[in-house]
Amino acid sequence: MNTSEKGHHFQLAPDLTIHRIVNGMWQVAGGHGYIDHELAIEDMMKYHEAGFTSWDMADIYGPAEDFIGQFRRRLCEIKGKDELDRIQALTKWVPQPEKITYPIVKEKIQNSLNRIGVDSLDLLQFHWWDYNNPYYRDALKYLSDLRDEGIIKHIGLTNFDTERMQIMMDSGLQIITNQIQYSIIDRRPEVKMITFCKAHNIRLLAYGSLCGGLISERYLRRAQQLSATDLDTLSLRKYKKMIDMWGGWSLFQELLSTLDEIAQKYNVNIANVATRYILEKPAVAGAIIGVRLGISDHSNSNSQVFNFSLDKSDYDAIDTVCSKSNNLFDLVGDCGDEYR
Ligand SMILES: NC(=O)c1ccc[n+]([C@@H]2O[C@H](COP(=O)([O-])OP(=O)(O)OC[C@H]3O[C@@H](n4cnc5c(N)ncnc54)[C@H](OP(=O)(O)O)[C@@H]3O)[C@@H](O)[C@H]2O)c1
Repeated sequence: MNTSEKGHHFQLAPDLTIHRIVNGMWQVAGGHGYIDHELAIEDMMKYHEAGFTSWDMADIYGPAEDFIGQFRRRLCEIKGKDELDRIQALTKWVPQPEKITYPIVKEKIQNSLNRIGVDSLDLLQFHWWDYNNPYYRDALKYLSDLRDEGIIKHIGLTNFDTERMQIMMDSGLQIITNQIQYSIIDRRPEVKMITFCKAHNIRLLAYGSLCGGLISERYLRRAQQLSATDLDTLSLRKYKKMIDMWGGWSLFQELLSTLDEIAQKYNVNIANVATRYILEKPAVAGAIIGVRLGISDHSNSNSQVFNFSLDKSDYDAIDTVCSKSNNLFDLVGDCGDEYR
């Protein structure tokens, strides 16, 4: 297995190596088309066979953790127990911002263990909605206790800003990842987060790198008046707003045209260029790409990401367009501030 940053895999810890393209399961939680349960499990088998063995989910992503549990049982029946070692199930705990006690944390983690069907979570990513509520520090302390007890292998964060990560480092908490929005459109991590992560050996897991599919040929040369049919998922609607804030549809078209030229140079597609761009950034371990199980399958296309590298002229061309955009860090704030 290639565990280098240039290959398909990334070693986050001695006992946790992920595929650099992680299958994102928010798309099964509703708002992304009807997901047929049986077709979804069949598709999960196909992703696994194609080598895409890492899955990102959350306690709040509808049936996502149950799907992984069922997929694991099916895989075990067909290929035997050892095959399960190839899967990495990265989940999240997204509690309400209220008083957090050890029994609450233990119960929630036990629930995820039961649903996924494992004795220990590979990576538990913690989200917190409100920094004014200080219980996030207690939550992380109890999660660390559960890691020491062995029912969590590693702790990560999601949507935390650099300032709070510094607080956690100062408290001696061991965090290995932060999952954040990072795309050619949203380069806020480059302002503070990446420098901080490099200094503390924390890796980034990027989402939104394709803006829900907007960064693709499907939207190239499309007029601004996108209909409800065009923006037919929650994800598309979420990132269309981000594009509007970033610089609007005509600048976005300029970006798509530039990405299209780069894509043609390497005989790949626009999504591949956008994913490659994020994977080549410092501190980035992986890009989480949403999968609409049983509806669409881009696994063959996404394999192409590992067959080329971007050169300086590609970066310059992308920068030329992005230099005309608004500064999202000034408008929105650091990573995760869009949720607060
Ligand atoms: N922590 C958080 O707060 C947070 C927030 C959002 C997302 N996430 C995670 O990140 C994952 C990614 O979700 P996202 O909403 O950011 O979506 P995304 O990954 O930016 O976009 C996914 C969509 O891109 C399209 N696509 C994928 N590969 C393609 C290719 N090779 N060529 C053309 N189009 C391609 C597909 O659209 P079609 O299906 O329409 O073809 C797919 O549904 C989620 O599932 C979740 O795990 C986390």
